[in-house]
Amino acid sequence: MAHSRYDQQPVLRTSACVAIFLLICAKTYHCASSVPNYCPLTPTILSSHFGSPVLEECTTVDGGSAFLCSIQCSASASCKAVVTPSCNLSGHCTTCLHCNKLTKVDFGMSNVQFFLHTREIGKNTDGVRFPNSQLIAGQPLLAEIFLAGTRAIFTFVSTVGHSVFLIEIRFDEGSVVANSYIGYRWGAEDRYTPHFNFHQGQTISMFCVVTSTAYELYFDRVLFKYFPHRFSISVVSDFVVNSESNIVSFRL
Ligand SMILES: *[C@@H]1O[C@H](CO)[C@@H](O)[C@H](O)[C@H]1NC(C)=O
Repeated sequence: MAHSRYDQQPVLRTSACVAIFLLICAKTYHCASSVPNYCPLTPTILSSHFGSPVLEECTTVDGGSAFLCSIQCSASASCKAVVTPSCNLSGHCTTCLHCNKLTKVDFGMSNVQFFLHTREIGKNTDGVRFPNSQLIAGQPLLAEIFLAGTRAIFTFVSTVGHSVFLIEIRFDEGSVVANSYIGYRWGAEDRYTPHFNFHQGQTISMFCVVTSTAYELYFDRVLFKYFPHRFSISVVSDFVVNSESNIVSFRL
């Protein structure tokens, strides 16, 4: 392994190397089946991000290399985020943090690198179902979405079909509308005209943090919408886009 090649490099370089290595080679697998021989393969990856994350339910893990620390997280189903706050220039860390929840990110602070442990739950589709038909607070949602149609519409849907949070980018109006449609009733409409340069045919990266109180939706690392919950997230089962748009990839 080329790990020692980077021994003299700054830690960020080592971490970037770790991320790329994990992405390409070190897919780990969790068995979700009760029949061992038919264990489905669910590849997980660690993705590298820059920003200042707020993390919860963290455990301090013994140091060693940033590489080992990341591998350990990707082997644990509950570990969602890794930060290595105390590494020296050789990539040796006295401690690292494994966290189960991420509740906020300040992308304006781009000096902190963190890793998210996610797996893909859908690609090239117009909707994904969350595991156990349930959205979990603190579990970050990452997606690449192709915007198309006069209005690109993203909706979090409940098990009984409520649109508990929907957001429309209206190219025809140059505006954005956020709302809910619960029990055949529209909620209070939240319409605004941001300074946006979205265009039809564009692919954006979505980063959504779901906390116990709100959705925080980032597009291309900018906080696009903060939307307080109007309905319990424990019954939010699906994320869908309008039929012209496309979910290129969705990970959580
Ligand atoms: C980093 O820490 C390790 C372990 O303590 C040590 O062997 C190494 O020399 C340190 N490297 C630097 C550049 O301080």
